Amino acid sequence: MSIDASPAALLADQPQAGAWLVDAVGYEIYIRSFRDSTGNGVGDLDGITSQIDYLETLGVDLLWITPFYTSPMADFGYDVADYCAIEPIFGNLDDFDRLLDAAHAANMRVIVDIVPNHSSTEHIWFRESASSRHAVRRDFYHWRDPGPDGGPPNNWVSYFGGPAWTLHPETGQYYLHLFLPEQADLNWGNPAVIEAFDEVLRFWLDRGIDGFRIDVAQALVKDQALRSNPQIAPWDPTGSRWEQWDAFDHQFDILQPSSVDIFARWRRIVDEYDAVLVGETYVLEPQQLAHLVRTDGLNAGFWFAPMHMEWDPQAIKTALQGPSQALAKQTQVGWVAASHDEQRPPTRFGGGDLGRRRSLMLATLLMSLPGTPFLYQGEELGLEDGVVPPDAQADPVGSGASLSRDGCRTPMPWQPGPGLGFTTSPTTWLPFGGRSDQDTAAVQVNDEDSWFHRYRTLIKVRRMHPELRGLGVEWPERADDVLAIRRDTLLVLANAGDGAPTAEVGGEIVFSTHGRTGVLQATDVLAPAEAVIIRSTD
Ligand code: GLC
Repeated sequence: MSIDASPAALLADQPQAGAWLVDAVGYEIYIRSFRDSTGNGVGDLDGITSQIDYLETLGVDLLWITPFYTSPMADFGYDVADYCAIEPIFGNLDDFDRLLDAAHAANMRVIVDIVPNHSSTEHIWFRESASSRHAVRRDFYHWRDPGPDGGPPNNWVSYFGGPAWTLHPETGQYYLHLFLPEQADLNWGNPAVIEAFDEVLRFWLDRGIDGFRIDVAQALVKDQALRSNPQIAPWDPTGSRWEQWDAFDHQFDILQPSSVDIFARWRRIVDEYDAVLVGETYVLEPQQLAHLVRTDGLNAGFWFAPMHMEWDPQAIKTALQGPSQALAKQTQVGWVAASHDEQRPPTRFGGGDLGRRRSLMLATLLMSLPGTPFLYQGEELGLEDGVVPPDAQADPVGSGASLSRDGCRTPMPWQPGPGLGFTTSPTTWLPFGGRSDQDTAAVQVNDEDSWFHRYRTLIKVRRMHPELRGLGVEWPERADDVLAIRRDTLLVLANAGDGAPTAEVGGEIVFSTHGRTGVLQATDVLAPAEAVIIRSTD
């Protein structure tokens, strides 16, 4: 492929810095469960470095590594106690530099997770802030007097369920936390917080990283007066965390207009380094995504509808069309079907081989749209959620009516045998989850017919065909359950129903989820969850 044919080069008004993102294929590494190089049952930085060859074989070229900073691990690293230091269980800065060098040598870029909405309550900023009502850093966080009844100052709830406020008896005030009480929300209305994070960004950029995945990007800035949200349904503190969250209209805790000013400021910083900002923009309305992703801010925002949709042709189409219609630039979507926070797609979409076929069909659609697709470790192996018995649960969110996130976080199965090539330790931070030999990377890499090879081929096809990455998406209407996407002379057909419709259009096969080769005839029948990319002849 010549450089000039790249969509990045074709986007005339796209600023040059960070433009490489639109051609990248991302891969999320949940560090605790990727590979353990020290034999303590927890994945680490050296473990990632040791698997760069595997990632190169798969064909991804942008790694997102989940937090590895100093942390008491109340939320497994998303509770950061020092943004510029590495938790010893994961390694040290030299290990990080080696990982970065190894990735760069393999032509992969690396983005790190930044967690700016909240810090650990063990962070020195919070400790100082909590030391007295008059502490210099008191305003680094949101402190408020109790409400008139002595309860929380407003009705906000945590994303993890329960009230978003915890009383600090020593100073008699509540502090805000949209997640665990151990994750105190930083006050982004305070210029000193903004300046402190400029330093954090530059610390990592100066080490040579290629950008940031921004945790909880929709929530940084809060309403200045911290007004209560309108309640739209009864709030049941014993309900699931999403039921609790959805009992309120989130007018004042998330999506405040000035969040985009922070991202614009950060964009000016990362542009200096040709680095990018990819937001964890956890919203489900396309307009909300468009609010957060502007041309002068986040380079891209993750779009979560594919993780929350039913397996239904219209639902899939709506989920995939929404962001491109709402965003000023269609390439600003980060496409994700899986992550360390959600049930794995094969489990979500019916389990077993049906779930796996559906997941690959969805991946085929995502890899055919403008934006940056990301796989989550193990997605390329067709992994279902691992089985985690109740007494081995680790996720702080998994109690009560809420689904635990442990199942999607069990260790990567690298090879058959004890420790699955993940570790030499007899015990691991989460159990292996019941993997078969066929689930392992070693077995699949050696089997041309494996899920690994289908994902690998799909990535290669995206790379070889710039028209799958560029602008201009047409959705030809079909009377059946087949989703059709036209990308220049390429046509993607995906049977999202249970029936057996005919292709209706023929052409040379560029990719097939079902191993078809040669030419697809218009009269050929598409199996349920089958997808093909063809160069159409009409
Ligand atoms: C994000 C992370 C999730 C974490 C939460 C709080 O949603 O992906 O794992 O628990 O933020 O930091």
